[in-house]
Amino acid sequence: MRREEVILKSPEEIEAMRRSCLVVAEVLRVLKENVFPGSSTMDLERIAEEETKKRKARPAFKGYRGYPYCLCTSVNSEVVHGMPGEKKVLKEGDIISIDFGALLNGFYGDAAVTVPVGAVSEDAVRLIEVTAASLEEAINAAKENKHLSDISYAVQSYVEGRGLSVVREFVGHGIGRELHEGPQVPNFGLPGRGIKLKAGMVLAIEPMINIGGSAVKVLDDGWTAVTADGGLSAHFEHTVAITHNGPYVLSRI
Ligand code: MF3
Ligand code: CO
Repeated sequence: MRREEVILKSPEEIEAMRRSCLVVAEVLRVLKENVFPGSSTMDLERIAEEETKKRKARPAFKGYRGYPYCLCTSVNSEVVHGMPGEKKVLKEGDIISIDFGALLNGFYGDAAVTVPVGAVSEDAVRLIEVTAASLEEAINAAKENKHLSDISYAVQSYVEGRGLSVVREFVGHGIGRELHEGPQVPNFGLPGRGIKLKAGMVLAIEPMINIGGSAVKVLDDGWTAVTADGGLSAHFEHTVAITHNGPYVLSRI
């Protein structure tokens, strides 16, 4: 199912992907406004479903390899692929990563944000800030004639230089008419390796960063990835097109 080829997109196709990604960005914006102590992650799921429908798009994750929801909602030590639940009620001090993808006019968009629930610890604030900034570093490396691993190195060097750790078991990916296309985009690696970046490549870049060790494990539900040491984890993601004019962040409003 995962396509391994790297499929270049024309400028017209990139504009079509921009529309899918704007749906993703708008839905995430609405979701962020609905994160507060007392909301359950299933409330967020329902909002996502409704807001996607309003925009004539389809959720990308629901049904993907049997995943049952529109959203991944990963709280605190959950890294990615946390599942919404009626009983999963957010409380002050939590952090939540909301990951959402949409399909519109044959193209996918994919993005994620991590947000605090009310007031959170200084450590949590810093984890969120460093993770968000590492994605910006990665985006700045997503330029024609650089190498794929320059993106990976940008994340790793930024994050490890600040005493946090990079999850290795999950990676970013190419995206287009499939949710997952080639190439895989790791968040760690030496610079100057891998394929050369070309205009027309569209990448979902998604650093997953832990406050403690980098190790993760998957729970018995087969989806939820959590940190092995129970420490906090954050996750940000953007869909980014490489163009002659530099990186074009399709999922940024
Ligand atoms: N952004 C994630 C990814 O690209 C979300 C996928 S969840 C899944 O892997 F259920 F669709 F697998
Ligand atoms: Co993704």
